[in-house]
Amino acid sequence: MRVLGIESSCDDTACAIVVDGAHLIASQRLSSDLVQRRYGGVVPEVAAREHTMAMVPVVEATLEASGITLADIEAIAVTRGPGLLGALLVGVTFAKALGVTLQVPVVGVHHLEAHLYANALIEPLHFPSLALIVSGGHTSLCYWRGHGELEVLGATRDDAAGEALDKGARLLGLPYPGGPEIEQLADSVKDSGGLRLPVARVDDAPLDFSFSGVKTATDDLVRRFPDKRAEIARALQDAVVEALVKRLQLAYDLYPVNDIYLAGGVSANGALSMALHDFARQRRIAMHVPPRELCTDNAAMVAALGYYRLAEGQRLEAFDGPKTPWPLSSLAKGGLPC
Ligand code: KG4
Ligand code: ZN
Repeated sequence: MRVLGIESSCDDTACAIVVDGAHLIASQRLSSDLVQRRYGGVVPEVAAREHTMAMVPVVEATLEASGITLADIEAIAVTRGPGLLGALLVGVTFAKALGVTLQVPVVGVHHLEAHLYANALIEPLHFPSLALIVSGGHTSLCYWRGHGELEVLGATRDDAAGEALDKGARLLGLPYPGGPEIEQLADSVKDSGGLRLPVARVDDAPLDFSFSGVKTATDDLVRRFPDKRAEIARALQDAVVEALVKRLQLAYDLYPVNDIYLAGGVSANGALSMALHDFARQRRIAMHVPPRELCTDNAAMVAALGYYRLAEGQRLEAFDGPKTPWPLSSLAKGGLPC
């Protein structure tokens, strides 16, 4: 089944065509990050306006790259939430209108769950597994029993991992989005020169994350060591990576599986990917990380997940709009293994 995916939850307008949830035919994306840079972050109204201008050209470019026409599209999948309301509204409205015009079914998918399906475009998914989703707005650690069966084991209590990097970057005078900028600066030095940033543990919930304290601590280091920007970037990256790897190790001890999936914008980070691969090698398990271009927001992951949701008979009805907030935990079915 040829599914056309639409993604517009944040600052990327994206479209892709995926066959049977696995074979990527074409994928295009236009980010408004250069516009957003002026404001130091994503301004919701600006994002929504940029989506309205970018949507049609991005869909046309995808069709052109795919070599097929709109008449060949059999279904549409769109990110329904969570995300910026106005931004989501553009994608959902466009998808519904296109569905009516082409007379094909439309399904709305969860953005975070979709991130995991970037991995389905590389090889078939293995269940049960553990999944770590690390993006600009969310950090979630899950037990993944099968399609549509995600159990949240831990989540952030405050800032997301990507948000911590974005805020740290801002304190270091780096542009938005901060994650790749922090990575580049951090990798320019061999270590943090003895600087360390603590990541808080959540006492009553060892699999939960808390990154808000890192921001305050980064601010303090920037004031004390203005000439050590690269070392501070390295310390920040080390702290975020350590927090993520530790929670994943703990989750693995509780739920030993053969496969671990990483997804979301922060999974593009080389240090994180390396640390997780090291861990997986020690335990002789498989670590799956999407290729860089599928880590950050894209529509291929949306089309891939949409295929499974359509097969289950899910549809976006005429009066269904964006869904945000939309807790990942609301997707849970069936509980955890004993
Ligand atoms: O998944 P995503 O594209 O959008 C959301 O759903 O939020 O994730 C964006 C986040 C941003 O915080 C960005 O700074 C971070 O992913 N990011 C990275 C890297 N590339 C993007 N963080 C660390 N290293 C990177 N190379
Ligand atoms: Zn995302």
